[in-house]
Amino acid sequence: MKIDPVNRLRGTVTVPGDKSISHRAVMLGAISEGITEADGFLPGADCLSTIACFRKLGIEIAQEDTHVMIHGKGLHGLNAPSGTLDVGNSGTTMRLMSGILAGQTFASTLDGDASIRKRPMGRVMTPLREMGAEINGAGEGLTAPLSINGQKLHGISYVSPVASAQVKSCVLLAGLYAEGETTVTEPTRSRDHTERMLSAFGGDVRVNGNEVTVQPEPHLIGQKLLVPGDISSAAYFIAAGLLVPDAEILIKNVGINPTRDGILRVARAMGGEVLLVSERNVSGEPVADLLVKSSPLHGIEIGGDIIPTLIDEIPVIAVMAACADGDTVIRDASELRVKETDRITTVTDNLSRLGIKAESQPDGMVICGGQFSGGTVDSFLDHRIAMAFAVAGLVASDPVTIHNADCVDISYPSFYQDLQKLTGV
Ligand code: S3P
Repeated sequence: MKIDPVNRLRGTVTVPGDKSISHRAVMLGAISEGITEADGFLPGADCLSTIACFRKLGIEIAQEDTHVMIHGKGLHGLNAPSGTLDVGNSGTTMRLMSGILAGQTFASTLDGDASIRKRPMGRVMTPLREMGAEINGAGEGLTAPLSINGQKLHGISYVSPVASAQVKSCVLLAGLYAEGETTVTEPTRSRDHTERMLSAFGGDVRVNGNEVTVQPEPHLIGQKLLVPGDISSAAYFIAAGLLVPDAEILIKNVGINPTRDGILRVARAMGGEVLLVSERNVSGEPVADLLVKSSPLHGIEIGGDIIPTLIDEIPVIAVMAACADGDTVIRDASELRVKETDRITTVTDNLSRLGIKAESQPDGMVICGGQFSGGTVDSFLDHRIAMAFAVAGLVASDPVTIHNADCVDISYPSFYQDLQKLTGV
C-alpha cells in the first residue's frame, strides 16, 4: 500500500463498531437466554473468530455485515466442540473464552496464529488454576495452544499484577460458573465493557474503585444492543485531522468511555483541537461525535494511570509525537511488548525508517519531533502499526509504502478506503 502526502483533509467519517464491545456482545449473547441482537457490530477478522468459536460450541449466530443475531442457550447451554477452537489473531477471544471454557463440563482446545502462539497466557492460567481450573499450555506451558478440561470452579479474590481487561474479564467470566463470589483487583482500572454489559444482561456486578465483584450463576437474558464506533479506530482520524495542515474532520458515533478516552486527553495536552459534539448514551456506553481540526502539537510526557486508557493508541500517538515540537516520552507501557507485535520495537523501527529519532526503552519510548521522510515501513502483520504509519504517510515529505498492509482487516477492513474519501483524491 502506498500513501501519498496530502495538504487537505475534509469530511465526515463513521468508524466501525468497537472491537472490545463486539466480542463481548457475542460472548454474553451466547451464554444468555434468548436472542441478542447487535447493530454496529464490527465485522473484522478478530470478532469473526469469536463468532466462529461460538458456532463450534453449538450457538446459532446469524451475521450479516454489522448486524448480528445470537441465539443464546443460557449459562450452561454450550456444547463440547468438535475440534480446536481457532481464535486467529485475537487475544481477546483467547483470554475471555478461556474463562468461559474453564467452568464447562467438557474439554476444549484454543489455538490461533503465529502471533497468538507467542503471547503470554500465563496471566490467565494463574488465576484460573487458583479457581480450580485444569488448563495447560504449550512451549514452557504458558502459551497457546491451550487445553482446558472443564471443572467445577470456586470463586477467588484475585489481585492482578497487570491492568488488563482481558485478564479481568477472563476471571469475571469464570466467576459466573464458580461457587461463591469472585473479585478482581487491578493496579489501575482497565476498560470496563465487560462490567457494563454483564450488568445490562442481568448479572450481579459490583464495582468499587479498581475492584470488581461478580456473583455466580446469574440469570442472563439476551439484549438488543447498539455497538458504538471504536475510539481505537477513530484515533487514526484524530491524528490525521490534527497533523494534516488544512484539515477538519467530523468522526461520527465514537465511544468515549472514560476507561478508553486517553487519546482525547493526550491530543489536547499536546495542543490538539478535538471537540465533543452531541454527547449521548448508547446501550450503556457514552458516545459523541468528534470534531478535529489541524493544530500545531508539542511533545509531552505520557505515563502512569492514563496508559491503560490509551494502550492500543500508542502507535498513532507516536506518529503524532514524531510531528510535534520537542520530545515526547512514553513510559509505564511495557504491556506494548506483548501485543500483536512488540509495539515498542515495531513503532521505533518504523519511525527510524522514516527519518525520525526514536529511542526504545524497556517500558516505552522517547520520540524526538521532526519531519517524516518518505520510505518503506512494515506492519509486521500488526493492524495498528499499519494504520498508524498510513497517517505518517499523509504528512511525510514523500510517499510511504506499507508492507503487509492488509492486516487492517483485523479491526478496520475499510480503513484505506475511508481515509482516501477524506483526502478527496
Ligand atoms: C482488550 C483489552 C486490551 C486491548 C485489546 C482489547 C479487550 O488488552 O489492548 O486490544 O477487549 O479486553 P489487555 O487486556 O491485554 O490490556
